Amino acid sequence: MEQTAPSAASPLLAALKHGTREEHLAIERQLRLMDPGVTLDDYRDYLARMLGYCEPLEAALVALPGLGAAVPDLDRRLRSAAAARDLRELGAAAADVAALPRCAELPALGSVARGLGCLYVLEGSTLGGQFIARHLEARLGVGAGRGGSFVRSYGPEVGPMWRAFGAGLEAHCPREPEQRDAVVAAARDTFATLGRWLARGSAR
Ligand code: HEM
Repeated sequence: MEQTAPSAASPLLAALKHGTREEHLAIERQLRLMDPGVTLDDYRDYLARMLGYCEPLEAALVALPGLGAAVPDLDRRLRSAAAARDLRELGAAAADVAALPRCAELPALGSVARGLGCLYVLEGSTLGGQFIARHLEARLGVGAGRGGSFVRSYGPEVGPMWRAFGAGLEAHCPREPEQRDAVVAAARDTFATLGRWLARGSAR
């Protein structure tokens, strides 16, 4: 899909977008969420896989020293609990959600720069999520309080949250080119590990 995010305000966001374009396209192709014939099972699978990937990754991000200073609203940006809630709203038992597989092959987070690159991927997914949410609402009737929280993410706040993330990225990311390369490399690693995790197939 065409990308229209305002990345010009942040050169680093622009580099991230450019540096992960192929990875993003590959993940879009891998997922069937925008297909006209998307089913509730496709969507449940997606939620289960994203919960299994994001929950351990979010725990690692929260534990990363210095990341909270660069992203003061980090807590608000953690969305794996929303994926779990959506699954429950769509009929899954709490024990089944708790028993879903969690990803063990996560991107290495050895520095704040790498944490920011990783977070870029999770935060960027809120942009595409707006399109996906509209499609799923039209096709499947999922929405707020009806299993649609994860893809809806911050609702009308998606734009401001993205701009705030970009501003924090520029303000806190070290200016040295090699540090900026580390941000982009971590984003690529995040897409790569997520792609492999999603390719493992149905979580049901
Ligand atoms: C079928 C699945 C997906 C579709 C159709 C999709 C679509 C899109 C679209 C249309 C945008 C641009 C939105 C805008 O500019 O306002 C976008 C941005 C983005 N998406 Fe996705 N996306 C999908 C899945 C994902 C996943 C699973 C991730 C990672 C967890 C992801 C990460 C990103 C990132 C990082 C950006 C920001 C790109 C930038 O820097 O501007 N997307 N996506």
